[in-house]
Order: sequence, then structure tokens, then C-alpha cells
Amino acid sequence: MYLCSTLLLIASLIVESLTYTHPIPPGWTLHRRADPDTKLLVRLSLVQPNLHNLDAYLLDIADPQSPNYGQHWTPERVKETFRPSQGSADVVRSWLVSNLDAESSTIIQTDEVLSLNVSVAQAERIFTTNYNVYRANNGFERVGCHQGHNFPAHVAEHVEFVWPSLTYGGPRLTRRNSPPTVKGARGPRVVQPSAIDVKHCDDAVTLDCLRALYNFHYDLVAAKRNTVGVAEFGTQYYNPADLDMFFKRFAPDQVGNQPKLISIAGGQLNESDPNLDDFVESSLDLELMMGLLGRKQEVFLYEAGTMEQDPLSDELLGAWDAYYCSVADTSGIGRIARDSASSDCGDAPRANVVSISYTSTPDVRDSTFLPMLQRECTEIGKLALMGVTVIASSGDFGVAFPEFPDTLCLVNDKLEMQAPNSTQSADFVAAFPASCPYVTAVGSTQVSPGKSVRDPETATFAFPSGGGFSNAFVRPRFQNAAVTNYLKHFAPPYGPSVFNRSGRAYPDVSANGCVWPTVVAVAGNFNLTGGTSASAPIFASLITAVNDARIAIGKKPVGWINPALYSPWFVGSFNDVTNGTNPGCGTEGFRASPGWDPVTGLGTPNFERLLANFLLLP
Ligand SMILES: *[C@@H]1O[C@H](CO)[C@@H](O)[C@H](O)[C@H]1NC(C)=O
Ligand SMILES: *[C@@H]1O[C@H](CO)[C@@H](O)[C@H](O)[C@H]1NC(C)=O
Ligand SMILES: *[C@@H]1O[C@H](CO)[C@@H](O)[C@H](O)[C@H]1NC(C)=O
Ligand SMILES: *[C@@H]1O[C@H](CO)[C@@H](O)[C@H](O)[C@H]1NC(C)=O
Ligand SMILES: *[C@@H]1O[C@H](CO)[C@@H](O)[C@H](O)[C@H]1NC(C)=O
Ligand SMILES: *[C@@H]1O[C@H](CO)[C@@H](O)[C@H](O)[C@H]1NC(C)=O
Repeated sequence: MYLCSTLLLIASLIVESLTYTHPIPPGWTLHRRADPDTKLLVRLSLVQPNLHNLDAYLLDIADPQSPNYGQHWTPERVKETFRPSQGSADVVRSWLVSNLDAESSTIIQTDEVLSLNVSVAQAERIFTTNYNVYRANNGFERVGCHQGHNFPAHVAEHVEFVWPSLTYGGPRLTRRNSPPTVKGARGPRVVQPSAIDVKHCDDAVTLDCLRALYNFHYDLVAAKRNTVGVAEFGTQYYNPADLDMFFKRFAPDQVGNQPKLISIAGGQLNESDPNLDDFVESSLDLELMMGLLGRKQEVFLYEAGTMEQDPLSDELLGAWDAYYCSVADTSGIGRIARDSASSDCGDAPRANVVSISYTSTPDVRDSTFLPMLQRECTEIGKLALMGVTVIASSGDFGVAFPEFPDTLCLVNDKLEMQAPNSTQSADFVAAFPASCPYVTAVGSTQVSPGKSVRDPETATFAFPSGGGFSNAFVRPRFQNAAVTNYLKHFAPPYGPSVFNRSGRAYPDVSANGCVWPTVVAVAGNFNLTGGTSASAPIFASLITAVNDARIAIGKKPVGWINPALYSPWFVGSFNDVTNGTNPGCGTEGFRASPGWDPVTGLGTPNFERLLANFLLLP
């Protein structure tokens, strides 16, 4: 018997060999049984061949020692390599046909998915399960089943999972909106622009502070042939007037510059949104990236109208890859509050570098979350094969998972809400997508009070920078030496249940996250804000400049950079950060230490050296 238990959002079936019932995730309740006559489009995603080779394919083009470094794959090659076999489709199809009332139901088949258009009553009969309506704390409802789906074993081995599934929740900001509660914290505040100076980067960080800190003085030469984008989700907008206010003060030749809006799943701007907090994230990301890169580089704004409870990246991933779209498109299914399907299948241009300052799913080894985490990470791996660098913030809640205004930690393997300042110690929870090894995760640093840009930065203490160890993804080999060194020489004082020593460790790198100023208010204030939300677009800007220099001499963009960053070639490309901690879950978290650590990764970038090293690669 195979069961899928899905969590709250509709049906994902996780193919497992045990029968179990999932706990309903924090923040959701089972509301009622689903109406038996409701039509469901149940989508069975078929297993993909060659997935076990994904790491090898990627290392072949991303390991600096490989003769094929930089030889990214075409989308067609990616598609052909992972296309499910006809044999899988035949087995699943014939089992479905033998269980269907042919007159009232239809099977729709694409390369990777068998969709079943049936009523709830029929689906319950076929998969021996119950469908329910689940309700989130905010009133949002979804159809799903937490009892799982049943398949005979010979069918289950061909099914990757069933959509729609119960997933945990939607993209959430990694940034703290309200004044942090940790010691030394400082909330958003207004600063007089006249008081800003590169001599006071401990107080207010400007573009000039960042250039000085990271040795970043680069004038783009191939901007027209290069691409970069930031992803924003839900009701996170920017206001053109705010960008202009920022540019007027810090980059006068950019007044009037705007990002190129790429709308995904209905995402659009809304200048009349009265909630000023909704303007902070996009303003921060765009002002930093556009300001650092200068007016020559167009920046894409991927504005995804993703609903709060949708998985982080399915709409976005589908917009970059029509093939994934056909798998992930859950149009109408279970989305009680939504009437339009994503019309952006594969339509969005794939930028060479994409920066994401959001977190979606707790990285825990729970069959509710695991298939979705693994599938989305695989899709990010496919983007990496095509030469895309995906950069994500590591989160602003230390070793805990953000569930604003609280955090999630593990108690006896179960996710539990915990106030960020709780003193009750609990096990740590990593955050996806930062925990995916194909993502470059960026933590946060700051200039200590009284120090200058010439002094070493410290791990941010205005808030705890996210970092730790994945339960869902094993530690990739390229991290072995760095992580083993940390575990051996700076062993954290925690037992085996607290964090997973064999998991993918993050962040990979770090950059200043106490950034000021960023213009957020329609009323036009310069507000002090920050977070790893700032660190990710800063690092993404530097990698975009590296691509610019490579493109100018006829080389490819760098794509997946992690194996290179950890390699001996890149020693000296980072400023090691050795002071500070990232508290959470009632502990002090981890300690920054010499070499790689789970607070600041390899350290902050030294752009000149990073660039020189990437230029030496083929
Ligand atoms: C599912 O079947 C119903 C009729 O039973 C039909 O109206 C609907 O268009 C079908 N949906 C899809 C996606 O084929
Ligand atoms: C913009 O936000 C306002 C306030 O929330 C809302 O009334 C309006 O419908 C929104 N407009 C769009 C186009 O979403
Ligand atoms: C920015 O600062 C002003 C003045 O203190 C405040 O009214 C506004 O709410 C702040 N905006 C945000 C988004 O924090
Ligand atoms: C934690 O912070 C909350 C909100 O700031 C506060 O109400 C509560 O008293 C604090 N608890 C402790 C134990 O400090
Ligand atoms: C630790 O991570 C590894 C790699 O993902 C996984 O196989 C293992 O089950 C995890 N252990 C726990 C206790 O979650
Ligand atoms: C080290 O970090 C602590 C906070 O964790 C901070 O108070 C101190 O100023 C930092 N020291 C230096 C030299 O940056």
C-alpha cells in the first residue's frame, strides 16, 4: 500500500510504502469533507529518469576542474534527459483505465503527467482516500487529503507524486517587518540623507559603503547581452516615485530608470495599496540591484501573483519552463479562491542571475513537505543546467523558520510555533529554497558600531541571520572539506537531534544586510531597513557583473557557482567573517568561525578576486 499524505493543499501524493496520516500543519485546520460532486483534476506526475545523475551532469559543467566547464545545456536536452518513459505512462494509464467509469471521466496525457478529470467521489474510490476542505488561519481554503492516496506497488513505482498536493504555505518574506526583538536590534527608522557618509557605514549603509566593503568598482561593458532579475511574490510592489527618490540622492543618472516588469500568474503593481510594508521588499531589492549595477543594465522584475498559500516557486518555475508548467499547473484544482490559471507557461525570459528574497517551506523530513521540496529543488537544478544562477536569502530568523510574527522549530520531530525570543530550546529548522544545493544562499553581515569599511564585518546582530543544515538534501561533496572543518574544529554544542550534520549546509556566502537607505513610503521617506533580503540582491549584482565581464570576452555566464566557490581556486575571494552568532529556537544558534560556518558561509565577496578567478575559468 502506498500512501500519499498530503498536507494541506491539495493532493500530493507522496508515494510511500507505509500507511500513515499526516499531521495538519501549523496554521491550518480541517474544515469539512469535500463535496462528493465537486470536479477534481487529479494530476499524477510520472517518475523522471536520470534524476540520480543530475549532480554529475551539473558538476560536469560547473566544477572548475571539468573540461566542460560553462557548457550549459539547451532546454531541449534538459527536457529529453528527464522525460518520463512511455513504459511508466502505460502502466499508470492502464491501471487508471481499469478503475474508471469511462463514460464520466477523462484521462488527459502529456509527456510527464496523467491528469484525471473526475469527481471527488470517484477520486476517493480510485485512491481509497478522503478529500477534505482545509482552512488556513487567514480564511483561505483548499481541497486536499491528509490521509494519502493508495496505489498498488507496481503502479506506485512510476508515480512521483500526485498534484494538487497539500503543501505547507506560500512565499513569505525573509525580512522582518517589525523591529526585531534580539539584543542590539534596531527597527526601521528615518534618516536624514545629509547625515549619510561612507565614513559611517556602521550606522547607515549606502551603495558607496557596499562598493567599498566588497571592492566593487566595475563599469559594465556587455549589459545589452546580459540579463538579471529579482523575483517578488503576492502583494509586494514597488512605486516608481520611490525608485526616483532613491536614485536622485544616490545615483542621479538613474532617475527615471525602472525595471522591466514580467508579470507571472497575474502579478502586477498596485501603487494604491495602502499598506506601506508591501513596498519595502521590492524597493529594497530593486534599489540595491539597480543602484549597484548602474543605468546600463536592465533589471527584470518577475512579479508573481502567487497566492499566499501556494508553493514558492511553482508559478515562477513554470513561467521559465513550459515543461514544468505542464506538471505543476494546478489550475483551478483546489484553488477555491482563484479562477484563472497561469497563462505564462514558459513565457518568461530566463535571466542569467535571479535573486529571491523569500522563503517558502520548512526543510524538514516529513512526507508532507519532502516531495515538493525535492521536486522544486530538482527544477532549480535544471535551471542551473541551463546556466542560470539562482541566489536566495538565507532568512532573518537564525536557526528557526520564519512564521511571522513567530518562528517554527522542531519539538520531538514536530513543527511547533515558538516566539523568536523564547528561551525554550528546540531543534532547528532549515529554510527552503536556501537549503537547496543548487541555490546560492546568502547570509547577512554588518559593520560593527564604531568600525569602518576597512575592518572585518561581523555576523549581523541586528537580527539573527539564517543558517544551518538541511534534512531534505544531503551535503554535496563540494562542501565536504569546508563543513567538516567547521564541525571538527568549531563543534557546536548540540546533540544529534538538534541539527542534521549530514545535510546540505548553508549559507554559502554572505553580504551586508543592515542596509540603509531604502525608500519605501509613498510619502517618500528614506527608511532604514535591511535583512538577508538585502544580502541576496547585493551578491546577485556582483555575480551579474562577473557575467558581464565574461560575456564581453566571449565566455558564458557562470551559471551554478557553488562548486567553484568552495574550490581551492577561489580561496582568497572572500573576506572571512569570524564574529557573531545566529540565535533561534531558544539557543544561541551557531557561531561564526574561521573558514566556512553556518552563519556567514565562506564570507563576504572580494569582487576583484572573485572576478579574476571567474575570468580564468573557461
Ligand atoms: C472535466 O469534465 C467536465 C465534464 O464532466 C468538463 O466540463 C470539464 O471541462 C473537464 N475539465 C477538463 C480540464 O478537461
Ligand atoms: C490595489 O490595492 C487597493 C487597496 O488594497 C485595492 O482596493 C485595489 O483593488 C488594488 N488594485 C488592484 C489592481 O489590485
Ligand atoms: C518609514 O518611516 C516613516 C517615518 O517614521 C514611517 O511613518 C513609515 O511607516 C516607515 N515606513 C515603513 C515601511 O516602515
Ligand atoms: C517576547 O517578545 C514579545 C513581543 O515583543 C513580548 O510580548 C514577550 O514578553 C517577550 N517574551 C520574553 C520571554 O521576553
Ligand atoms: C539528515 O539528512 C539526511 C540527508 O538529507 C537524511 O537522509 C536523514 O534522514 C536526515 N536525518 C534526519 C534525522 O532527518
Ligand atoms: C562581535 O559580535 C558581537 C555581537 O554578537 C558584537 O557586540 C561585537 O561588537 C562584535 N565584535 C566585533 C569586533 O565586530
